[in-house]
Order: sequence, then structure tokens, then C-alpha cells
Amino acid sequence: MSLSNTRLADFDRHVGQTVTVHGWVTHLRSSGKIAFAVIRDGSGVAQAVFVKTQLSPDVWARFQELTLETSVALTGEVRAEPRAPGGFDVTVKDLHIVGPSPLDYPIQPKEHGIDFLLDNRHLWLRSPKQRAVFAVRNEIEQSIHDFFYQRGFFRTDTPILTAAIGERSGLFETQYFEEGTAYLAQTGQLYGEAGAAAFGLVYTFGPTFRAEKSKTRRHLTEFWMIEPEMAWYDSDDNMKLQEQFVSYLVERALERCKEPLKVLERDTAPLETVKPSFPRVEYTRAVEILKTKGSAITWGDDLGAEDEALLVADYDRPIFVMNYPKEAKAFYMKENPADPRTVLCDDCLAPEGYGEIIGGSQREDDYDKLVARIKHEGLPLDAYDWYLDLRKYGTFVHSGFGLGLERTVAWICGLQHIREASLFPRMMYRLKP
Ligand code: 4AD
Ligand code: MG
Repeated sequence: MSLSNTRLADFDRHVGQTVTVHGWVTHLRSSGKIAFAVIRDGSGVAQAVFVKTQLSPDVWARFQELTLETSVALTGEVRAEPRAPGGFDVTVKDLHIVGPSPLDYPIQPKEHGIDFLLDNRHLWLRSPKQRAVFAVRNEIEQSIHDFFYQRGFFRTDTPILTAAIGERSGLFETQYFEEGTAYLAQTGQLYGEAGAAAFGLVYTFGPTFRAEKSKTRRHLTEFWMIEPEMAWYDSDDNMKLQEQFVSYLVERALERCKEPLKVLERDTAPLETVKPSFPRVEYTRAVEILKTKGSAITWGDDLGAEDEALLVADYDRPIFVMNYPKEAKAFYMKENPADPRTVLCDDCLAPEGYGEIIGGSQREDDYDKLVARIKHEGLPLDAYDWYLDLRKYGTFVHSGFGLGLERTVAWICGLQHIREASLFPRMMYRLKP
């Protein structure tokens, strides 16, 4: 038996032909002399039709052994059948059982609690909605690479083990031989800045880690981040790139993920309006607006999830909140010459309550100011000597941002919680499976 068989997604090219497919049984139904099994192979589904009078008795007997998630090899003739799941029938000529599946398969066609589903994530992934999420994620990942490739960016892969703390969020630590403490990267940015000085336009796309003790619907302890870094871009150039980038990702998903978005029952109307340019609101102005809307925020605080939702509610597309107070943001952001209490930065907030999907900034390019900020934050200067060299040897205006992949996928798919945007989500109380 050859395994180089036909994929269900390609059935439109095989109508009238006899093919062999491999897959898993997702539904069974039988009415005496005729029986049906829906088969899933990851690329699509199709309905296998067993006609008793046309089959040898042992093939018919094997049908009786099928259960949910039995893996099979089927040979039969493909027919277009608009009423069948997937739009095609296979009139079965032969059936082999590859792997039986006992009757206690955990995921049954009924409502399950989220903890149960997460405990069975390895099997839950086989469900149509989960496949749809990963079809969208796959398209988004490809769009990200296409977007930057078309613009001449180098993809640079930055280290995951590092001595230089990048952000303020929680750290995962490990002992690194005789070198002291290593941290799992919270960001690739600092290395991206070195890349920008060497190659001009770069981006990193990698896993990042934050030991955050927050159990919200938008925090993971391990997530993937896309971090472009651009030489000779100021904060305004940075936001222009962000709005083009986010709009491109949404447009590609709408164009190429119609079917998965339908499976997810995503109302795509709020996505259709995501186009440049995005409204820009100064932080100081945002605080005034929020106060009129009843928020308890005071100048100096970072925005909470509810504040973010309140602000975006006035618009039909993502917005930028710009130039936050220095104390609310990371050490590397450039002081705002127009108001030195603030830094030249932006958060891009997605609509429909999704909130921050991007954090970006112009980087401090003044050697002395950067040293002062590192000291002020209580960070060890010697871990940043190489980073300071980027200001010592030919300092340059530069900016960059980080887009959280899972938050973006959750927003575009319309998911309630970020965890479903990750294959095996890592959260405070979840390390298994
Ligand atoms: O705003 P953040 O912390 O920015 C940085 O890490 C910068 N170094 C980026 C840069 O300028 N190169 O994180 C960026 C994005 C957030 O906007 C959010 O989308 C995502 O990363 N993110 C998380 N996603 C899931 N779980 C978490 N715990 C996240 N923390 C941040
Ligand atoms: Mg942020």
C-alpha cells in the first residue's frame, strides 16, 4: 500500500477517479444496506459511502469495526456531492483499518468544559474549529514573512538565552554554567537593534517568555513575537509601518481564510474597515478622555485592559496611543523632546475589546541618557555594554515594534481567549500537555 496518496483538499481534481486516502473517522451512520463514514485527513473532509451489495463481506465487516477516530486507508471512486460534508463522496471499494480507536475517545460531540478540553489539547486540535484557528494562524505567519520580505527586511533570529533583561515583566531564570544567571528572552529587540545598525531593516520572529502571574484572557507565559527594527525610522515612520502591516495581515486573512473564518463564525464586518491610517491619541489626551468615561486612571498609570477597550470603542479600526509616561515604559524608549516626562512610543490597540497587539517605540540614541535610564531602572550596566556600543559607535535614529502573534490571531479569529491561538498554550497553571 503506497502512502503517497491523495489529500482530501485535492478531491476536486480527482472526480471520477479511484483514489486511496488516509485519514480518521469523525462521524458514522448506517441504515442497513448502506453506510457512511466522514473522514478527516487534516486538509479537508469527505464522506465515504459503503454499499453492502457492492462490497466483499470482509470490507463490509470492517466498516462495523469503525469507531470515532479510527485511522483508515480507503480506496474508492470520488464523486462531487454538494450535500456531503466537504462536497465529495467516495464510493468505497476497499477499506483497511490502520489504527483502531477505543470507545472512550475523550472528545465527544457534546459540550465540554474548557479545562477538560485543555487537558486534552492534543486531541482537541482535531476539531474543525481548532483547525480553522490554525489555518488562520498559518496564513498570518506567511503574510508576516511576505510583508517584510517584499520590503527588503532581513529575518534575523535572536538568542533565547540572554543575560540582558529587555522588559519589565516577569523573568524565567536558569543557571548558565559559570556565567551566572541566564534569562529566557522576553524580547529579541535589543539584538534586533544591533541587526538594524548592521543590515538596516530587520525583523525577528521567535518565541518569547514572560513569567507573568496574570490569569487574563490575553496573557500567555510563552508567546511568539514579531519584532521589526528599522534604522533611520522615527516614531512617526514606525507607526506608518505598523498600520500598513496590521492592515495587510487583516486583508490577507479576509481574502484567503474565508472558509476558516466561517467555521469560526467570525463576523468579518469589523475587520473590513481595518485600513490605514489609524487614529493617533496622545497618552495625556487619552487619560482625559478616559476620565470623562468614568475610568479611575491617573496620569502616570499604564492603561488597563478596560481603559484600552473604552478608548478604541469610539473607532472602527485599531488606534495608536502615543507617548506614554517614561515611568510606565521600558528603559530603551527615547525621551520625547516636546515633553520629557514622556517617551516616543506607541501601543496599537485592536478593536472589539482585544486591546494592545503592538508595543513600539523610537529608541533612545543618546548614550548618556540611556546609561542614566539603565541605572535608574536598577539594571546591571555591565550586561548592556554591547548595547551601549550601538550608541557609542555611530549612534542612529531607529525605531521598532513588537506584534504579539497569538493576540493578533485571537483578534482576527474572534476568539474569546488567547489560549486557543496557541498549539499548546503555556499559562501560569498549565505546562501539560
Ligand atoms: O509591549 P511589549 O512588552 O513590547 C516589547 O516586548 C518590545 N520589546 C517590542 C519592540 O519594540 N520590539 O510586547 C509586545 C507585544 C504586546 O503588544 C502583545 O501583543 C504581546 O507582545 N505580548 C503578549 N502576548 C501574549 N502574552 C503575553 N504575556 C504578552 N506580553 C506581550
Ligand atoms: Mg506593551
